[in-house]
Amino acid sequence: MPLLDKFAGAAAIRAALETGGRDPTQVVIDEILSPTVGRVGGRETILAGTNNYLGLTFDRDCQAAAKRAIDAQGTGTTGSRMANGSYAAHAALEAEIADFFGLPHAMVFSTGYAANLGMLTALCGKTDTVLLDADAHASLYDGCQMSGATVFRFRHNDVAALEKRLQRLGESARDCLIVVEGLYSVLGDCAPLAEIVELKERYGATLLVDEAHSLGVYGDNGCGVAERDGILDRVDFVVGTFSKSLGAMGGFCASPHPELDLVRYVSRPFIFTASSSPATVASTHEALRQLRKRPELREAIWANARQLYDGLKDAGFEVGPEVSPVVAVRIGEKDEAVRFWNRRLESGVYTNLLVPPASPDRHSYLRCSVSAAHSAEQIRSVVDTFASLRGPG
Ligand SMILES: Cc1ncc(COP(=O)(O)O)c(C=O)c1O
Repeated sequence: MPLLDKFAGAAAIRAALETGGRDPTQVVIDEILSPTVGRVGGRETILAGTNNYLGLTFDRDCQAAAKRAIDAQGTGTTGSRMANGSYAAHAALEAEIADFFGLPHAMVFSTGYAANLGMLTALCGKTDTVLLDADAHASLYDGCQMSGATVFRFRHNDVAALEKRLQRLGESARDCLIVVEGLYSVLGDCAPLAEIVELKERYGATLLVDEAHSLGVYGDNGCGVAERDGILDRVDFVVGTFSKSLGAMGGFCASPHPELDLVRYVSRPFIFTASSSPATVASTHEALRQLRKRPELREAIWANARQLYDGLKDAGFEVGPEVSPVVAVRIGEKDEAVRFWNRRLESGVYTNLLVPPASPDRHSYLRCSVSAAHSAEQIRSVVDTFASLRGPG
């Protein structure tokens, strides 16, 4: 059947992944014992690739809020906010997000992926231009594609390349949207946001920053890299997700522009999908409160990030360009990386495997993400496991 023949490519990918042992994409964590420990194949395993940055998935207050919401409002909303109405909790969460960022407008989507599709398709159409960082997340690429806009990629974090693009656009630079992330999720490097904001203002463009991985981690209040760099009030649209530091699911956009409230009327990824469940909204809202009132969570994640980064670097591994809660270790070729990943898992450490074409630069990586909930001993154990199992296996 010709329609099904195209899966031959997927079958080849699966076969290649299976040659190194387990297929990393099919791992089942049989039991989740805590934010940082699971049981995989009968073995207690340190979870070092979860994006559970603040460790809030087992926070008692977040769990209690979710349970109360199920009891009071049921298990699901069974429809979209446009068709079936918003629950008061959706509106309250939007108000909390606006207050958190100190911006007048905020909007909640059902996932971070939907937030990016929803914003890009609302902001851009066939006659518009997007300048997109080459290492941007798939959801940003997909949103651009779905919008129909003309997309020019510029070299990752290269401000001169971005300026060249703006120059080439001439007068129409004023109508273009620049799309970047705060902290990039694979290599753990930050965007030069202050320079990018300066450029966007000089050329009169608009800027959208995805703070999915930096929310709760960067900035005095945990608003992200734009806050840390002192330019949050100059960003047009801040997007992000609830699925990482807030330990739930969902996405958001916050903005100084009143037009954000009109996105609700035109954004298909907002209109044509069910709204977040009461439990999800309640735990997200509580997690945001925890993030705001417990700066010690940020202190803990940064101590752990430094310990892991320095530990792996001192052990001779090639890590990303700066200390961050995402620590990516470059591992030669794809096959070697799959084997390396398998040996880490067999030794009780779960990380993320990134191989081309999913990696940004044709290299393979084992990506770790650090949690405030990791103990110093767990981080030591991750480093020791990497160090003791180096070399081809
Ligand atoms: C930069 C970035 N944006 C958006 C998303 C999508 O978020 P979600 O998984 O919550 O839909 C991700 C997810 O990994 C991401 O890394």
